[in-house]
Amino acid sequence: MKKILFAASECVPFIKTGGLADVVGSLPKCFDKKYFDVRVILPKYLCMKEEYRDKLEYINHFYMDIGSQNQYVGIFKTELDGITFYFIDNEFYFSGAKPYGDLLWDVEKFAFFSKAVLSVLPVIDFRPDIIHCHDWQTGLVPVYLKERFQGGEFFRGIKSIMTIHNLKFQGVWDVKTIQNITGLSDYYFTPDKLEAYKDGNLLKGGLVFADAITTVSDTYAEEIKMPFYGEGLDALLRARTNDLRGIVNGIDYTDYNPTTDKYIPVQYDAKNFRKEKCKNKKALQEELGLEINEKKFMIGIVSRLTDQKGFDLIAYVLDEICQMDLQVVVLGTGEEQYENMFRHFDWKYGNKVSANIYYSEALSHKIYAASDAFLMPSLFEPCGLSQLMSLRYGTLPIVRETGGLKDTVEPYNEYEGTGTGFSFCNYNAHEMLGTVRYAYDVYTNRKREWNKMVDRAMAKDFSWDVSANKYQDMYDWLIG
Ligand code: ADP
Ligand code: GLC
Repeated sequence: MKKILFAASECVPFIKTGGLADVVGSLPKCFDKKYFDVRVILPKYLCMKEEYRDKLEYINHFYMDIGSQNQYVGIFKTELDGITFYFIDNEFYFSGAKPYGDLLWDVEKFAFFSKAVLSVLPVIDFRPDIIHCHDWQTGLVPVYLKERFQGGEFFRGIKSIMTIHNLKFQGVWDVKTIQNITGLSDYYFTPDKLEAYKDGNLLKGGLVFADAITTVSDTYAEEIKMPFYGEGLDALLRARTNDLRGIVNGIDYTDYNPTTDKYIPVQYDAKNFRKEKCKNKKALQEELGLEINEKKFMIGIVSRLTDQKGFDLIAYVLDEICQMDLQVVVLGTGEEQYENMFRHFDWKYGNKVSANIYYSEALSHKIYAASDAFLMPSLFEPCGLSQLMSLRYGTLPIVRETGGLKDTVEPYNEYEGTGTGFSFCNYNAHEMLGTVRYAYDVYTNRKREWNKMVDRAMAKDFSWDVSANKYQDMYDWLIG
């Protein structure tokens, strides 16, 4: 039995800010249980869903040195869908209203978490063959593993993997501060290790010291080796190209299933969507105070409102988009400028635009089910899950050809009758507008073609089956 430990900063259903939580919550369930014992370790945030926090079982506690501090490390545990989840407790670090916020504090918090992940292993008596780390928050795990832990019998031979979900975030602060926080010696703060452009960089530590690196789509794996997408680490990623692979994300096919989804008023499937799907549109129009008309072309957006997602393109041409006979439904939170931009358009085109500036799982499912198209014109996109959810619900994605969007959405080819969505290449507002117009035209004037595209979209398989196998192959290759 091969033992794998996922270390991450968020995980569905306990705590979620983005797609990372979806991946960490759904992938471990998809490994072959005969050969793999996959467990997950997370921070025990005070802000995690109460129904789950209340059910955690206390295991043990001890004190651990980190930098110049001596900190309490509590260990809790729970089991869900056959997976064991461990939680690191420390109220000094994990009692905030959100998992992240202030970067310096986050750096300190996750340095503590990373060291604690290793320190608890002998206490819980779980010796993983591989620790699979996700994003910068766990970048120090491979570093600490090499630095001190692997000297001891228990840790010898444990491998580590670093998965990049978003290269934009690296956990960067000045070297001196990071040295104080982590207690790592000068040896680690050179440009071939944790130092990058004179600062300390936690993700870089992970990328240097991990035995293998993955990211969440093939295209992004190639893109990040180039300066435009490389966020300053492209040279390192080129140097490690033999250890870097792209494995595209899947989604949880049980949670996201239009035939059983409890959040949506009318369930439907690939056979009856022509009649049933639009009932969800009418229900949503009513709920959000839009004109009730099942024929109205509805564009959905569910997203963190950040530059990454291409909202400056939308801001630039939303006036023109609203000249068409359509509706735009937005659900998201994030940067104030984009929250206000959508509120403004909601005010200006009240019967066409509905801006919902908050977080809601229920509304997100209703939007995936109700919309005809889903707009995601990202500047960069490591994988993207929203477009996969849309495809699953027969809602055709309109995307920019980057990262995972390029790998998962096949552009419509009207001559060959192929494709599952619409895409454009350059990061240009009018190129996006042209693509939205094209989608509108197909929906309005070639409805049969549109519906055949929905057939193809719903027939695609973006469950974890294929990708979980690829992770298993990688584990086998690493452990031998
Ligand atoms: P990212 O991880 O970059 O935010 P993904 O497309 O990988 O992008 O994943 C985003 C996830 O977060 C999806 O599950 C999406 O439905 C969800 N999501 C984003 N914003 C909201 C929101 N305001 N309310 C509910 N779910 C949201
Ligand atoms: C990140 C990326 C997103 C990806 C998700 C899960 O948040 O922005 O593209 O789907 O991680 O891997």
